[in-house]
Amino acid sequence: MKRFNTLTLITGLLASLIITCTAQAKPATANDGVIATVHPLATQAGIDAFKRGGNAIDAAVAAALTLGVVDSHNSGIGGGCFALIHLADGTILALDGREMAPAKATRDMFIRNGKADPTLSQTGALAIGIPGSLAVYDYALNHGGKLTLKDLISPAADIAEQGFIIDPTFASRLAGVADKLAQFPDSAALMLDETGKPHPVGHLHKQPDLAKTYRAIATDGINHYYNGPFALAVQNWMSENNGLVTAEDFANYTVKLREPVISNYRGYKIIGFSPPSSGGVHVAQILNILEHFDLANMDPATRAHVTAEAMKLAFADRAHWLGDPDFADVPRGLADADYANKLAQRIDLNKTITVETHSTPPGADTNLFSRHTTHIAAADSQGNWVAITATLNTSYGSKVLIPGTGVFMNNQMDDFSAQPGTPNYFGLLGAEANSVQPGKRPLSSMSPTIVLKDSQPILTLGAAGGPTIITQVVQTIINHIDLGMTLPDAVSAPRFHHQWRPNHVTVEQAVDPAIIDALKQQGHEIQTRSSMGITQAIGITSDSNLIGVHDPRARNGAAAGYERPNE
Ligand code: GLY
Repeated sequence: MKRFNTLTLITGLLASLIITCTAQAKPATANDGVIATVHPLATQAGIDAFKRGGNAIDAAVAAALTLGVVDSHNSGIGGGCFALIHLADGTILALDGREMAPAKATRDMFIRNGKADPTLSQTGALAIGIPGSLAVYDYALNHGGKLTLKDLISPAADIAEQGFIIDPTFASRLAGVADKLAQFPDSAALMLDETGKPHPVGHLHKQPDLAKTYRAIATDGINHYYNGPFALAVQNWMSENNGLVTAEDFANYTVKLREPVISNYRGYKIIGFSPPSSGGVHVAQILNILEHFDLANMDPATRAHVTAEAMKLAFADRAHWLGDPDFADVPRGLADADYANKLAQRIDLNKTITVETHSTPPGADTNLFSRHTTHIAAADSQGNWVAITATLNTSYGSKVLIPGTGVFMNNQMDDFSAQPGTPNYFGLLGAEANSVQPGKRPLSSMSPTIVLKDSQPILTLGAAGGPTIITQVVQTIINHIDLGMTLPDAVSAPRFHHQWRPNHVTVEQAVDPAIIDALKQQGHEIQTRSSMGITQAIGITSDSNLIGVHDPRARNGAAAGYERPNE
């Protein structure tokens, strides 16, 4: 068996938090460094890292640690991430910090009276997997950064201690889950006032316990988290709350080095993240299918139809084949160009096709991948290009804040397939390949991606938004490469999404009504959302500057550039 080496939407919810996209992205250009995130304080932390002599890896890690303070509904050290990094010497690092199921996890742990119970996989003790973000940030710094974890986590601890003013995005995300946070006394004490109301816009939000945890990590390194007081605090809470996670699970957590998925698209090299991300495989698969169509010269309605059909075919395969490659046989053939050719031939330009089930790629038995979210894009003039997508899964993850630590824990166990045929929070179906097993990592849609031309990076991008992450990345690439849009326009352009089941095309309100009518005539069912997903990207301008773009759908997002002072 040939395997990749293993070396060691939120659409509904996001739609209420982000603006309908008629706005244009505000890009930042600079020679020496650029960073784009969903929060100005995180972007500023990245710029401060550049100012202190750091590179794009330092800037991205500084931003990620700051997001854990100011954007704690989306990500934090209680969650997981994938980091895809192009180092200045051309080496690609694909760092898997996805959560891991605890050793005591079992296949049917979420089934009650014969049915999967989503409250168990989404809220509380059983929803929590062993987090990997902090381990990845540490690994990335040790293998490509110039600054230390202490240098980068200490300013974030200062913000946690001194507080920051709650903005409308934060307040709205908090209000959306206040009733669930109220079930957990420590979460309620931090996030709700004495009458049980969520903190409003304008409140100065201080997190003294998180500041203490960050400072302890600054002093003792990640051992504090994986082999010390933090792991013990989780174990204590778990034993009082019928949880499964132990301190030993934390000690056993490792960053896995994955072999990236590399494919070619119209003369560009697309570098994606391999399983347990489904992103790299299916971004490659969708683009491979679309390469058989002259998208640039198609009318927009046919282009939308063909792209939606390609998405549908890919997501049907995702539901069947994808899982953690260390446990499930994930065929490499899914990203194969000949396989994509066969799928492309099934697409009818005039009407939608019925896709009852997955297809079977070549080598399905033998040629295998061995095996509410945020995206950070950073790049520098030395050639370090970074794409980190990090998540707690849904807002505030499991809603559990481990007492005394200030850290919210993920609910990534919901990304396993709790029961074949039962959709997860995002409506995604899964099969045995993504069933729960001890030590296994749940399937993800996170799709950090880097694009090369003539071996040089020209684009780093990724997104938040559950399964729409994959289709956002595809559309930004098509908009930029096929349609020649500038990067700000490529990110801002109205989006659509198809994930096979449910069998409809989800379109943003801003999609041209003529395209929607044409899709309906071709037999597509249409669902409309005000807004879908949040993408961050960095590219290169025609005069060879770096250009960073945050998605205008995120009210707060910020891209910023850094110029080294003249010596
Ligand atoms: N938790 C969302 C994802 O990883 O796809």
